[in-house]
Amino acid sequence: MTSIEDLETPVVTIDLAVMEANIRKMQDYCDRHDIRFRPHIKTHKIPEIAELQRAAGARGITCQKLGEAEVFAEAGFEDIFISYNLIGTAKLKRLMELSRKARISVAADSAAVVGGIAEAAQAAGLEIPVMVECDTGAGRTGVQSPRQALELALLIDRTTGVSFQGLMTFPTSMEGTPPFLAEALDLLSGAGLTAHIVSGGGTPQSWRVHEIPQINEHRAGTYVYNDSNTVAAGTATLEECAMRVRMTVVSRPTEDRAILDGGSKTLSAERLLWKDPQYGTILEYPEAVIYHYSEEHANVDLAACGRKPAVGEPVTVIPNHCCVVSNLHDQVIGVRDGQVEVVWNVKARGLVR
Ligand SMILES: Cc1ncc(COP(=O)(O)O)c(C=O)c1O
Repeated sequence: MTSIEDLETPVVTIDLAVMEANIRKMQDYCDRHDIRFRPHIKTHKIPEIAELQRAAGARGITCQKLGEAEVFAEAGFEDIFISYNLIGTAKLKRLMELSRKARISVAADSAAVVGGIAEAAQAAGLEIPVMVECDTGAGRTGVQSPRQALELALLIDRTTGVSFQGLMTFPTSMEGTPPFLAEALDLLSGAGLTAHIVSGGGTPQSWRVHEIPQINEHRAGTYVYNDSNTVAAGTATLEECAMRVRMTVVSRPTEDRAILDGGSKTLSAERLLWKDPQYGTILEYPEAVIYHYSEEHANVDLAACGRKPAVGEPVTVIPNHCCVVSNLHDQVIGVRDGQVEVVWNVKARGLVR
């Protein structure tokens, strides 16, 4: 048995009991409200963890990129939604190959994207289910109005090679999403079209999804680990953060400064979204502020700490954004009661195409 103390740092650990409780809590919430849950695997990129989500009751998975979907299809996942506009001959060829192995649905927000998929699908003799992406307030991708959602749905419906599956949005917004979806669904039903799936997403809104009656599917990713951002947003507590990066104090150049043995290459350089700049939370020293990163160093301000760490002392950092941290590491270590239980390869790590 290897103890967590024996692990060389910096190292990404996953508290298995916390992660299992996070999986259970989200699935129970969705089950209680009769919402299908389709976890987004971009957070962990590990098929074994998706398997735990599936065993808990998840119906299908979400991937952001085709490369992730290829890894998860290979691992035996049969119902995969790619929540991304897929463009270009190379990707469409891969999409067709993948669609022969698993049921792949995709998002689209323009006639250009739908046209490309339809053309490739016709040539391959396939039909690809398509979700119309709606921008319900985030200002990222998505059609800009319910009427545009209808127009794209009608185009999908009359085009060979694609079938209209429903509507999706990200992130679900308590303000913008309900009126947009209500109007879009009215327009669709007026035109004789049915949105079988109406899918929202995002961990911060998770516990309020049932207040939006139009939504029948939820996609969350971050919830599985949680991070300093979800804590700052009030969605989770620090105790519910399963990803814990174990690091070592390698220098104490001044009374008030500590340096940890990793920086942006270990924890990413993501700032906290809802608070002052701060690059992660140190569990043992909650008053300490990680105020600066370089590639392999994290600068910590200890001025507010009564007790201060010595050189060589290990500390536990809850990163700001766990999904990006996953993408930086080949492996994560599953830990229970301070002992290593499993080592997982982050199989879809780095797959951004
Ligand atoms: C399309 C889509 N759906 C769902 C999610 C999951 O969001 P979260 O990580 O907040 O749970 C994301 C996150 O980036 C996303 O882009």
